Amino acid sequence: MNTKRLTIAVDGPAGSGKSTVTRKVAERIDYLYLNSGSMYRAVTLLSSQKGISPYNKTQLVNLVQKQCQIDFSNNGKTTLLNRIDVSEEIRKPEIEQQVAAVAKIPEVRQEMVKQQRRIAQNGSVIAEGRDVTTVVFPEADLKFYITASVEERARRRFNEFQAKGVDCSFEQIENEIQERDQQDKSRQHSPLKKAEDAIIINTTQITVNQAVDLILEKIKEH
Ligand code: C5P
Repeated sequence: MNTKRLTIAVDGPAGSGKSTVTRKVAERIDYLYLNSGSMYRAVTLLSSQKGISPYNKTQLVNLVQKQCQIDFSNNGKTTLLNRIDVSEEIRKPEIEQQVAAVAKIPEVRQEMVKQQRRIAQNGSVIAEGRDVTTVVFPEADLKFYITASVEERARRRFNEFQAKGVDCSFEQIENEIQERDQQDKSRQHSPLKKAEDAIIINTTQITVNQAVDLILEKIKEH
């Protein structure tokens, strides 16, 4: 597909299909794929490796500002924390449970936003997360808000964990998704919200490929 070079930003709640859809769009138009959630997960992993609680703000901020460089390789599929591949580890349930507490610290966010803009300097980018349409790239050429019902999102996350052999119940995952939504939407700094100029894509009843096509269509129109 031949497109003018653009910055595209995509936000939405956990399990909305945002990452799968955004990654596929990036592949189709050969854009850099930036998953900002992986960066908050990497910070959470680093704090756990160093034995620093997400509630010990001073130590955590110091760690993030001084010893935390995050990069992507393999067109966004591999997350590197201080040059080490942590792509698998950051998907574990224990990281999932702590990440929202880490992500609500304003100094952690400031450092991540800085790193996200550094990564995006290298070319055209499609970035996804909770605040990329509102805070990180407010001037993005195109913005999307990808969402789906809580039940459907919990079902997807549950299936992912099942496939990996993680022991959990559907109710537990549904509660965790609701809890994370609540934390992401109600936090004081950079809460998850739909940007006024974002196009809504509801994936509850459509397939990944349909969502990808909808976005590609909008990019073409642009
Ligand atoms: O997208 P993903 O579920 O991997 O993100 C993990 C967590 O990281 C989110 O629940 C949210 O707390 C945090 N996050 C954020 N801002 C972003 C991306 C993710 O606060 N831009």
